[in-house]
Amino acid sequence: MNEPSVAEHDVVPAGPLEAVPALPGSKLLGHVHLFRDAHERLPLLRRAAALDPVTRIRFLHRWVLLVSSPEAARDVLVDHAASYEKSPGTRVLLRPLAGDGLFTSEGPLWKRQRHLMSPLFHQSQLAGYATTMNDVARHAIGRLRDGESLDLARLMTRITMGVVGATLFGTQTIEAADELGAALTTTLQWVEDNLASSFLTLQLSLMETLERIEPVVPPALSDLEHRIKDALRDPVFLPSSRDPEMHAAIRTLDRYIEKMIAERRGHATRDERVDLLTKLLLARDTEPGQGGEGMSDAQVRDEANTLFVAGHETTANALAWAFYLLARHPEARARVQAEADAFGPDGVTSYDPSKLAYTTRVFKEALRLYPPLIMLGRRVLDSLTLAGKDYPRGVILFVNVYGIHHHPDVWPDPERFDPDRFLPEREATRHKAAWIPFGVGPRVCIGNAFALMEGPIVMATMMRNLTVDIPRARAIEPDAFATLRPKGGVPAVVRFRS
Ligand code: HEM
Repeated sequence: MNEPSVAEHDVVPAGPLEAVPALPGSKLLGHVHLFRDAHERLPLLRRAAALDPVTRIRFLHRWVLLVSSPEAARDVLVDHAASYEKSPGTRVLLRPLAGDGLFTSEGPLWKRQRHLMSPLFHQSQLAGYATTMNDVARHAIGRLRDGESLDLARLMTRITMGVVGATLFGTQTIEAADELGAALTTTLQWVEDNLASSFLTLQLSLMETLERIEPVVPPALSDLEHRIKDALRDPVFLPSSRDPEMHAAIRTLDRYIEKMIAERRGHATRDERVDLLTKLLLARDTEPGQGGEGMSDAQVRDEANTLFVAGHETTANALAWAFYLLARHPEARARVQAEADAFGPDGVTSYDPSKLAYTTRVFKEALRLYPPLIMLGRRVLDSLTLAGKDYPRGVILFVNVYGIHHHPDVWPDPERFDPDRFLPEREATRHKAAWIPFGVGPRVCIGNAFALMEGPIVMATMMRNLTVDIPRARAIEPDAFATLRPKGGVPAVVRFRS
């Protein structure tokens, strides 16, 4: 707990954050280099959680907070959620991909869209997707060869992309999965490369300066100021935002979504399709005073892109990790196998959570050990008090999901794989923000019930039909990518079970 602090000799004063414990870092760069290095980032997040519920790190000249206890996370994400917005860095970086979709939007737009989209993810709607999830997994299995060597992470991406395609968009994405997967990897690699970029830090500083001077800008210049502010919503400072490969990747994804929207516009009014995209196109705000308006094509594009990306990348990672953990824990694997074998040869054709209870616990433990999103960024809108200290408007903080999930005070023996941590009686007594792979509070993942159904169904369908061997399971490390992917994939050999 007595980590040396960078504060005493640091070249950048921390101003109002002075009293917050700082993690050791470089005098010049702060923590940028640690943050950029996949080997350093996760240990840094663990050290932050061990040091204090609220600590600070520095990106060049800019100090940010890490919030690393369930209590403080709840304070930010639930109790005072209205005092924060999503961090501008996340929004700028994700803008080319997700536009003003649900993940990145704020204020009245977010509220309206969440209200419109929530019913589409209601438990009653989801039950009908179980068969599709099972079918997509079986279809992917049917294309494998007995004894084939493959990357399980990639197979999981194909399956989860196929599930999103079929359930949300009513299409067969599995055929296009490799092309779309490659485009998405290029885009997410770009996000990753720029997470700790100096150009992004500079752009954020300029955005803040504009915000500060807004009240004193003379009326004659306010139009210009608004235009600059608008332009800065895109990652204009990042040289790579002009990267042709990145643009081509975004175009590939856009074209795919546009084609689906065009197909729907043809059918939507006749209500012939029941997939989520059609429902999005038909969704009308029925709140009094909202005028029963639907979404523009641009808004539907942003929402569809958001759901497409958010809806499969994270689940694919969690599944790849779950299989990796089972390869290392034969006793757990035998129990998952037993649950899978209780289904008939057609797999999980209807969803009954009690029949997948242990498999679900394994999936949840995989999400604890390897949360796909390791940090959740926020910016303070109004000055506020957190964990006994006062912070001014504009402070950026990251809820340290990875650090909380690996803290020994929250999870005894945290590195041990133990699915029974998720027995209902143990879940009931735990702090509500101890396990937050989906976040918590008003911005909690809209697809969390979807993912918690999909993960175990895909696992059971796979295990019912295949033996999955991961020969080098010990050597796989997390790669702190934009999401927590297994580094180098999960090389596996699959064999059909008779
Ligand atoms: C294991 C799988 C998943 C994980 C770990 C995950 C994680 C998360 C997290 C942590 C957030 C909140 C971010 C924040 O508070 O800053 C989030 C939001 C979101 N997720 Fe997921 N997600 C998963 C699956 C899905 C699926 C299947 C869908 C859609 C089908 C989805 C769609 C979204 C959307 C639209 C948001 C934004 C919600 C809002 O701000 O109102 N996610 N997700």
